Amino acid sequence: MRRRIAALRQSGAVLPAVCQRPIPLGTKTIAAGSQILICVGAANRDPSVFTNPDGLDLTRKPAHLSYGTGAYRCIGARLAHMQAGTALSKFIARTTAYAPIKGGTNWRTAPYVQRGPSSVKLQVTWNTAL
Ligand code: HEM
Repeated sequence: MRRRIAALRQSGAVLPAVCQRPIPLGTKTIAAGSQILICVGAANRDPSVFTNPDGLDLTRKPAHLSYGTGAYRCIGARLAHMQAGTALSKFIARTTAYAPIKGGTNWRTAPYVQRGPSSVKLQVTWNTAL
């Protein structure tokens, strides 16, 4: 499930790459040796790959680029899953309700390769039964 959420929400990263062979793209061809920037958010929401690409679908198979792909795919992906799983399950167990506070989200403005919130303020009701 965490991998699927990563696939849906990772929208800001850009991966630099060099084309090893000519790649047809629409009506153009990217020449071998070209430097390119892969927009992960666009790839993760490609309507030719994903049904309802902007929807949160937890049954979706994690065929996404959030951790890159191939030989240089993120070596820390498993660790990231474990950390996210531990943090989210502990948070959910210790709260009974939470919601973002209106106007309490700060957005990163730079660098452009990592777009997203830098902080989100939450209204939290802690689980006092623990
Ligand atoms: C949600 C968390 C994470 C995300 C979204 C993420 C994403 C990525 C991406 C997109 C790449 C580039 C792949 C490419 O160039 O094709 C990468 C590479 C890498 N990541 Fe992560 N990463 C995460 C967590 C981690 C953690 C926790 C570690 C280490 C403890 C880590 C270590 C690395 C390393 C060493 C590489 C370079 C791999 C190589 O060049 O062979 N990452 N990661």
